[in-house]
Amino acid sequence: MSLQHALIDILADGKFHSGNELGEKLNVSRSAVWKALQQLRGFDVDIHAVHGRGYRLAEPLELLDSHTIQPALNAQTQNHLQSLDIIFDVDSTNAWLLKAQHKHAVVCLAERQHAGRGRRGRDWISPFAANLTMSLGWRFELDITAMSSFSLICGVAVVRALKRFGVAELGLKWPNDIICQGKKLGGILIEMRGESGGPCELVVGVGLNVRMPSSMVSIDQPWIDLQHAESISRNLLAASMIDELIDACIACSNGHFDDYLKDWRDLNIYSDKPVAIHMMDGSIVSGHFSDIDESGALLLQTSDGLQRFTCGEVSLRSG
Ligand code: BTN
Repeated sequence: MSLQHALIDILADGKFHSGNELGEKLNVSRSAVWKALQQLRGFDVDIHAVHGRGYRLAEPLELLDSHTIQPALNAQTQNHLQSLDIIFDVDSTNAWLLKAQHKHAVVCLAERQHAGRGRRGRDWISPFAANLTMSLGWRFELDITAMSSFSLICGVAVVRALKRFGVAELGLKWPNDIICQGKKLGGILIEMRGESGGPCELVVGVGLNVRMPSSMVSIDQPWIDLQHAESISRNLLAASMIDELIDACIACSNGHFDDYLKDWRDLNIYSDKPVAIHMMDGSIVSGHFSDIDESGALLLQTSDGLQRFTCGEVSLRSG
C-alpha cells in the first residue's frame, strides 16, 4: 500500500489526526506525512489543517475495501472470481486488465483513474474516492460475433445491481448508457483482447457517478449521481455490480439472455420516440426508435423504411 493510500485510510474517518500521530502510525517522518498530504490534495481531496489539532477530511470517506466486498459476493461469483484488485490510482481499470495476466474471471476497482476511457474515444472523469470505477475481465469460448448483444446485456446487469439498492427512475440509452431521472448516471466501455473467430477475452468497464464533486462542471452532458438516493455503500454496490455482471457473462455464454433483452426493451428511454442517429461521417439519420434485434442492433423506423444500426458506428440523440 502506498503512503498516500495508508494515510487516507487513517483520515477516512473524518476525525482529527495530528502530524505526530500520523507519522508514528505510518512509521515515517512528519515531513513525509506532509508531502503525502500535499499529494492527496493534488487529487482534490479536501483536507483541513487546524493548528494544535492536526488534519482531517472535510467529510468522512468510504474507501474501497476488499474485506467488505469479498464476503458480500454471492456463491457463484466466489466460484468464478480469481482475483479482485483495488488500485489507488491507475490510468484506466480497463487498460490495467487488458495488460494484466490472462486469468478468468478478474475484477479491478480503482479509487481514481487519471486517464479514464469513455466510449468513442472520449475521456471519462474519475475523481478520487467519489464514484464506482471498475472493470471485469471474462474469457468467452464463443466467437465475439456470436454475442453482439452483450453490450446491451451489460447495461441491464448494471441497472439490476442499482435496483437492488432501491435506485428509481432508471433507464438505458442505447446501447448501454445508464440513465437516471433523464440524466447520465453511468456508462460502460467494453474492450476486447483476442482474435476474431475464436475465444475472446472481454473487459467490461463500468463507471458510475456515486458522489460526484460539484466542481465537475467540465462534463459536457447532463449528469446525475447517487446522492439523491438513500446513502449507498460503494463497497456493497461494487459487490452487487460484480455479481450481476458475472451473471450476465454466464447468461451470454449459455445463450440464455432473452430475459435481459426483454428488460432492455422495458428500460429503453427512447422506446417509440423520435431519435437522430449521428453517423461517423457526420451525416444524420432521423426516425423513430422501433426496437432492437436479437443481436442488439437498433432498428430505426425512417421515411425510407426500417433501418438497422450497430453500436460502435453511431451515436444516438433525441430527435
Ligand atoms: C461511456 O463513455 O459512457 C463509458 C464510460 C466507461 C468508464 C469506465 S470507468 C472504468 C473503466 N475504465 C475506463 O477507463 N473506462 C471504464
